[in-house]
Amino acid sequence: MTNLAGELTSPLFSPLKIGSLELPGRLIKTATVETRASNNGYVTAALLDFYGPLAQGGTPLIITGNIYTSVLGKSTPLQLGADDDSKIPGLAQLVDLVHAEKGLIFAQLSHCGRQVIPDFVAATDVVSASNVKDLMTGTKPRSLTEAEIQLLVSEFVNAAQRCQRAGFDGIQIHAAHGYLLSQFLTPHTNRRQDSYGGSLNNRCRLLREIVIAVRQRLGRQFPLIVKLNGADKLALRQGLSIADAVAAAKQLEAVGIDAVEISVGHYASGFPVTRGNFWRCLRAMASGNGRFLPILRRIGLQLFWPLLAVLCNLVWYPREGYNLRYSRRFKQQLSIPVIVVGGFLTESFMHRVLQRGDCDAISAGRAFIADPLWYRHLKTNTRGPRCVNCNACIGRVGTEPLDCYHPRIRAHKDAMLANES
Ligand SMILES: Cc1cc2nc3c(=O)[nH]c(=O)nc-3n(C[C@H](O)[C@H](O)[C@H](O)COP(=O)(O)O)c2cc1C
Repeated sequence: MTNLAGELTSPLFSPLKIGSLELPGRLIKTATVETRASNNGYVTAALLDFYGPLAQGGTPLIITGNIYTSVLGKSTPLQLGADDDSKIPGLAQLVDLVHAEKGLIFAQLSHCGRQVIPDFVAATDVVSASNVKDLMTGTKPRSLTEAEIQLLVSEFVNAAQRCQRAGFDGIQIHAAHGYLLSQFLTPHTNRRQDSYGGSLNNRCRLLREIVIAVRQRLGRQFPLIVKLNGADKLALRQGLSIADAVAAAKQLEAVGIDAVEISVGHYASGFPVTRGNFWRCLRAMASGNGRFLPILRRIGLQLFWPLLAVLCNLVWYPREGYNLRYSRRFKQQLSIPVIVVGGFLTESFMHRVLQRGDCDAISAGRAFIADPLWYRHLKTNTRGPRCVNCNACIGRVGTEPLDCYHPRIRAHKDAMLANES
């Protein structure tokens, strides 16, 4: 169906309230780390270049890539930071760029915990809930002390306040994908005996404390959302169950978050986060960021990446809306909006999902990397460059600026943006 202006009518283009904020549509650009900041985490022209077209495309809400709250929480080179007041002017430039197009932008705040290759970011200290080694990177962290946990809470609050001062429209706290707050939620990575470990109530304590403290500092009206896993997918290890994940979300709803975004997986689960094809991804990793892995993992990747790609393609084959089975469960139990990410590509599918009530909004990463004007294209029923989930973008995180690295799609995108300007 189209309206008088020839635009498609769809629930995707209907407004949605997130706390005090009204989004003009229900398609959100999810967080994808830009690796376009300066070495010490300041906004650069290259970072602004990534967001300009997304704002021009009318994207209803943009969530930044994960921004570290302290240097100890930095996961990749050229990642953006909000760990110091001197970063506020640069962050404000990013916000102004989006606001100039009447767009909205949230900052995603994160601490990587054990999910880091120390040599990649020159880290000398790696922390987590407990000292459980990460299978993917081989990194063994030390467990945080209770005093350090309190410091961590204040770092999140200070970073959130810097983002508020820079003009961001809201904050997303990253508690998915096996990063530090997810490490606290997950029984496999949280073996603590104190009040931050054991029961779900305890494992969720740090996240609750951060939400409460951010709320207190930023005010009740400031939009605050959390990204959570619907499942950890840690084969043969004790991951978060869907029941526990929903229970954690209910606790967070009770202390005042405005929405949840549902994803899946840790680094140590393989690739459920970005299902698709892994040929271009693993080839890039073998000669790129994989060079910083410990020696046996590095050699294994360099020798066996083609075999690994074949296996990954079989296990994590592409599928549109692959986290919907989780979002439905959150929808049944929560009153706040439920956003779901994972493999969305077509208007017809997203239309159906929203109409069925499987979620309140949809978020996407790779589709927007391939086509930053995607929202406009969907609305006007025109076709731009279409992502094929080749994951070449993932393979280059930290070694090259975030972009589409599929040659044909990238050429289409560059030509489209050149025409635009
Ligand atoms: C290059 C790249 C970087 C990513 N960086 C982040 C990040 O900083 N924070 C986050 O929560 N998820 C990150 N993700 C995961 C995405 O947010 C999203 O969950 C995933 O890509 C699945 O959505 P999609 O199928 O729409 O791409 C990243 C994904 C990609 C492809």
